[in-house]
Amino acid sequence: MPGAESFRASAKAYDSFVGRYSRELATALIDFAGVQPGMRTLDVGCGPGALTGVLVGLLGAARVAAADPSAPFVDACRARLPGIDAVEAGAEALPFANDAFDATLSQLVVNFIPDGEAGVREMARVTRPGGVVASSVWDYAGEMTLLRAFWDAAREVDPERGAAADEGVVMRWCNEGELAELWRAAGLRSVRTGTLVASAKYADFDDLWWPLPTGVGPAGAFCESLEEGKRAALHDALRRGLGVGDGPFELTARAWSVVGRVPG
Ligand SMILES: C[S@@+](CC[C@H](N)C(=O)[O-])C[C@H]1O[C@@H](n2cnc3c(N)ncnc32)[C@H](O)[C@@H]1O
Repeated sequence: MPGAESFRASAKAYDSFVGRYSRELATALIDFAGVQPGMRTLDVGCGPGALTGVLVGLLGAARVAAADPSAPFVDACRARLPGIDAVEAGAEALPFANDAFDATLSQLVVNFIPDGEAGVREMARVTRPGGVVASSVWDYAGEMTLLRAFWDAAREVDPERGAAADEGVVMRWCNEGELAELWRAAGLRSVRTGTLVASAKYADFDDLWWPLPTGVGPAGAFCESLEEGKRAALHDALRRGLGVGDGPFELTARAWSVVGRVPG
């Protein structure tokens, strides 16, 4: 299962792939988590900075920190959002003091943390007692339309490898119940779950396709690993599966969200 290494990609490729949904999803996650002006916040697994940017708009750069193990993403985040405290670090070892934040958020990240429970505990450690820890994950098995259609096409073109890499199967935390269990196991209280929906517009199918052969994310890594003939077959199967072509279209994506309070 490719994790962090599939995100050592260019910010441009990420932005054109799932990053297209990130800003709208971030606005929904911030609302769900109850982030208010005046709070100090941390974005864990910030990527090129979509959620970080929405937090900066609401709170100001001085109240926002961000962390990600991908150097190109942290560089992009710093360049896009001057004044934020952006660090190259994974969720398992956050270089921040205990109780440093009122809210710690992470968007589409927990499935990429090698020890998810340790990562969520670390997010709780840097959040003050009574503060919140909140996250979202894609509904990979269902209504994240782009990724569901991608893995269905991958299974058609290469049944064995496609099934083994399908994020709807391999991701550990893929629904509200699993997320709530993870949050409680990490010691969080008053745990609530919800559903978030975001959408993205595409000029045409090639606008959707181009980041995939660059290897961005698990789907991109799978696409890049195929020999040319199978990659062309995947291109055609995905286009057919989505029922789109040379004109503009829009896709929606569903994510599950979770929020809990740090005890004390
Ligand atoms: C799907 S992207 C989400 C990026 C961003 N949060 C967004 O919503 O656009 C997953 C992110 O998790 C990061 N990541 C991978 N392993 C991680 C870890 N152990 N701790 C924190 N973040 C990690 C990746 O580098 C990548 O930026």
